[in-house]
Amino acid sequence: MAEKKAFVTGHPIAHSRSPKIHGHWLASYGIDGSYQAIDVRPEDFAAFLGSLEQSGLSGGNVTIPHKEAAFAGVARRDHAADEIGAVNTLWFEDGVLWGGNTDGYGFAANLDDHAPGWAANGPAVVLGAGGASRAVIHALKERGIKDIRIVNRTLARAEELGRHFGPGVSAHSADAVDDLLADAGLLINTTALGMHGDATLSADPAGLPDRAIVTDIVYVPLETPLLAAARARGLKTVDGLGMLLHQAVPGFERWFGRKPEVTPELRRMIVADIEG
Ligand code: ATR
Repeated sequence: MAEKKAFVTGHPIAHSRSPKIHGHWLASYGIDGSYQAIDVRPEDFAAFLGSLEQSGLSGGNVTIPHKEAAFAGVARRDHAADEIGAVNTLWFEDGVLWGGNTDGYGFAANLDDHAPGWAANGPAVVLGAGGASRAVIHALKERGIKDIRIVNRTLARAEELGRHFGPGVSAHSADAVDDLLADAGLLINTTALGMHGDATLSADPAGLPDRAIVTDIVYVPLETPLLAAARARGLKTVDGLGMLLHQAVPGFERWFGRKPEVTPELRRMIVADIEG
């Protein structure tokens, strides 16, 4: 059988870690396949999508800034993509181009790995109301969390998400956060605020109950200021790297026909890359 080819596209794309993740799995399982980064400018993205089948590509990942254009450009979408409003994974089924979103799956699978039983630990406080927040809220709803509290600097964006996701999802401004944390079982940061070591929205994990789990979708640095504060408070913490690794699983399985494992070895390899 011919080599199967997949890709990740974004602009810029050089720093994507996806080729390392998929390359590791292709080598580990001895699969005759390839996964390459393709830089596509926004103005060329529609033509790129249209050329996929002819290029003999089995599918691929889509990242910033193309996730919304991919959402609009595919022929069919899975339920998660519709709920999240963005597509990060493309594949063909019977010649039809499908788009899915695996970010929520990756978020939940990371917690399954490191904090089993987490979904019984509501209510959840979600910091941020951007694209990443939508994926997280989708996953929380799917796992049956009934009280999801979005806290955002710009209240109107949180309210928009509250309307989109419906009952059980409420919107709050940043000054309400301490009250919201007092009985919460899960605190999730979806903003990029921890990225450069800045303070997160002023959510202080000191106010959480002892049973609370704190997670961050940011993974550079692995221990964000929020996670460090939660750990100092003695709370269970889960870093965001596992979300990146797990969101890659469904795509690999579709393109190459084998469900890959997120192993400690893969994690070590990507940690070395981040720290290198
Ligand atoms: P992503 O797709 O990564 O979620 P996004 O859609 O740009 O990115 O959303 C970024 C999120 O981080 C938003 O919730 C944003 O808050 P606003 O809606 O108020 O802009 C939040 N954010 C970014 N920078 C921030 C800052 N300096 N202080 C507080 N929140 C910030």
